[in-house]
Amino acid sequence: MKFHPPSTIPDVSSPQYWSARYRSGDTPWDLGGETPALAALLDRIDFPRPTEFYQPRVLVPGCGYGHDALMLAQRGYRVTAVDFAPEPIEYLRQTARLAEVKLEALCCDIFDLPTLRGSVFDIVLEYTCYCAIDPKRRSEYATTLAQLIVPNGIVAGLFFPLDDLPRSEPPFTVREEEVRHQFEAAGFVLVDSWIPLESHPARAGRERLMLFRKLL
Ligand SMILES: C[S@@+](CC[C@H](N)C(=O)[O-])C[C@H]1O[C@@H](n2cnc3c(N)ncnc32)[C@H](O)[C@@H]1O
Repeated sequence: MKFHPPSTIPDVSSPQYWSARYRSGDTPWDLGGETPALAALLDRIDFPRPTEFYQPRVLVPGCGYGHDALMLAQRGYRVTAVDFAPEPIEYLRQTARLAEVKLEALCCDIFDLPTLRGSVFDIVLEYTCYCAIDPKRRSEYATTLAQLIVPNGIVAGLFFPLDDLPRSEPPFTVREEEVRHQFEAAGFVLVDSWIPLESHPARAGRERLMLFRKLL
């Protein structure tokens, strides 16, 4: 009989893994406020803006404490923020209530969302969910986002960490070419890609903004 040593790779597909980290305060990914590069992206002239007549629907997958979701809602977007760990979702609901901001904070597995919602979102704002899921599920993740977005809708993704060494726990390393391949295979076209100047100092040069548009 073969001996299999216990795996040291955490089960990142289970909400229990993430809940335990929230409960113990082990959340080094949390910037404590909105992500500077994403705030700058929303200010870009060509980024879809809410108007009196049209409020784009934005999905924030793996939202954590939801600072970016709150920022979007405060700017007038219709926001659905999703995380399968209940602790950050409860936090976000309370923060939104206190700030008197309307948003939907859903406790659910992002891979289950297409059956619950279908393709209703104009924009997906992706930040550190891609690097948090099991890398073997990245193609499934891109396909899931494609199912959730309306034709011509966009994924605005800030992809982190662009490091050289692979990691055995989140954040799992990302590469521009690999991200592009996953989203193109899922039916998106890359419309822009750049290293933002506004990154948080600890992440400067280690993240890339990529805009994908879903083909009709
Ligand atoms: C690295 S944290 C980033 C949180 C947030 N985006 C931020 O920047 O602060 C990854 C988050 O994704 C959530 N997550 C991971 N896999 C998920 C899944 N399959 N469905 C929903 N949420 C997921 C985790 O619970 C965790 O809150």
